[in-house]
Amino acid sequence: MTKTEKTFYLETFGCQMNAHDSEKVIGTLEQQGYRQVDTEEDAGLLLYNTCSIRDKAEQKVFHRLNEYKKLQGEGKKFAVIGCVAQQEGEKIFERAPYVSMVAGSASYRKLPEMLARLEAGETRVTGLDDRQTEETFETEYTSRKNPYRAYITIIEGCDKFCAYCVVPYTRGKERSRGSDSVLEEARRIADMGYTEIQLLGQNVNSYRDPEGKRSFAELLGTVGQVPGIRRVRFMTSHPRDFTPDIVQVMDEVPSLCDHVHLPVQSGSTRILKMMAREYTREWYLERISWIKAAKRRRIALTTDIIVGFPGETAADFEDTITLLDDVKYDAVFGFKYSARPNTPALVMIDSLAEQDKAARLQVLLDRQREIQRLINENDIGKIVEVMVEGVNPARGQIIGRSSQNKPVNFTWSHAIAPATGSYQQVRITKTLPNSLIGESVP
Ligand code: SAH
Ligand code: SF4
Ligand code: F3S
Repeated sequence: MTKTEKTFYLETFGCQMNAHDSEKVIGTLEQQGYRQVDTEEDAGLLLYNTCSIRDKAEQKVFHRLNEYKKLQGEGKKFAVIGCVAQQEGEKIFERAPYVSMVAGSASYRKLPEMLARLEAGETRVTGLDDRQTEETFETEYTSRKNPYRAYITIIEGCDKFCAYCVVPYTRGKERSRGSDSVLEEARRIADMGYTEIQLLGQNVNSYRDPEGKRSFAELLGTVGQVPGIRRVRFMTSHPRDFTPDIVQVMDEVPSLCDHVHLPVQSGSTRILKMMAREYTREWYLERISWIKAAKRRRIALTTDIIVGFPGETAADFEDTITLLDDVKYDAVFGFKYSARPNTPALVMIDSLAEQDKAARLQVLLDRQREIQRLINENDIGKIVEVMVEGVNPARGQIIGRSSQNKPVNFTWSHAIAPATGSYQQVRITKTLPNSLIGESVP
């Protein structure tokens, strides 16, 4: 490494949107003449792309920055970006004076300019646009790590302000990217050999084309028909904006994967109201019934649930458990409520003890495990298409994912193992609550 070479190290936490932001940040840095290195020691610039969703996330960031501090004095620069950066803002400079850049995701489009200021020796560079911006972060230099599955963010920010959630404060206003530009990127990606596209947004189906050309469902259908694209996924859908035309287009376009992630958060209408989710249990279940009525194939359903929201009684929690029985999800991501800065729920009395929240979470996960065991058993004997993600050499198995997004482990009998990124037909011979097991069909 020469002294004049610009190098960076980037660590990423949080959701898929953050992971994809990092791919765009890496591309932007490379475009500015930086080279990515694998260790903190080798890097001139250290970036930390943070998440603030739960569990005292900011404390963890400060703790981590303290570890970085040991690397100081070698002319290194530190940058904190992402959701904790936006949330804590300039306080980060006070608590960690060796940090010289703090930037939230709503300001990434100005990264080249911020980097130039950093290089000029400025020690307090900020990008804290918060809810001011109407623009999205687009770059043609995105550095995609996975050669088969590509992410495209189509909508950024959130205007829903659920009572427990930091996202509207950390990611700014809801703003969509033009559908022509999304399609252009989808075509470019397909030309590069990608076969799977995942459209991303905090609430992906709240998408509103600024040019007014396509609805979310129409955009889905058009991306799904880009030549070369075999699978299209989208995450995360919000029940408020879930419309029947989404199911209709999934019926019509085979490349749209058989999966909808539709976070419910609670099965109790009373709690949903306190959460400001703006729907009732019945309203949510109606959307589920549309998805279950899909004509061509069974669409797998997954959700997010928060247990122990302030004021959640045993009866409210029971409503969540009966919702699991009613819907029969293919997977559930359960979280214990955690109080977050700036959010309206912060003033509500978070009275349930940590161990009681943990106990409710365990009840939820146990019940769901049983449901998944039964659902997956129905797949025995079926043939599913699997996109190969890798090999587990220890077990001589290929690992991949079905269209329903379930992990599938399978063996093969032909001489050459299926290549990563290829699509294989697999007969399911055994099932577990969290995965399917099978053998490839020649
Ligand atoms: N926009 C999506 C969710 C994004 S956040 C939606 O509205 O459905 C991802 C998940 O984190 C949420 O679905 C929720 O289950 C969980 N979550 C968010 N804030 C939380 C908090 N304060 N405590 C516990 N879980 C939380
Ligand atoms: Fe958070 Fe609610 Fe927005 Fe989802 S919709 S990101 S839970 S505020
Ligand atoms: Fe975390 Fe921000 Fe995503 S808080 S979950 S990285 S939007």
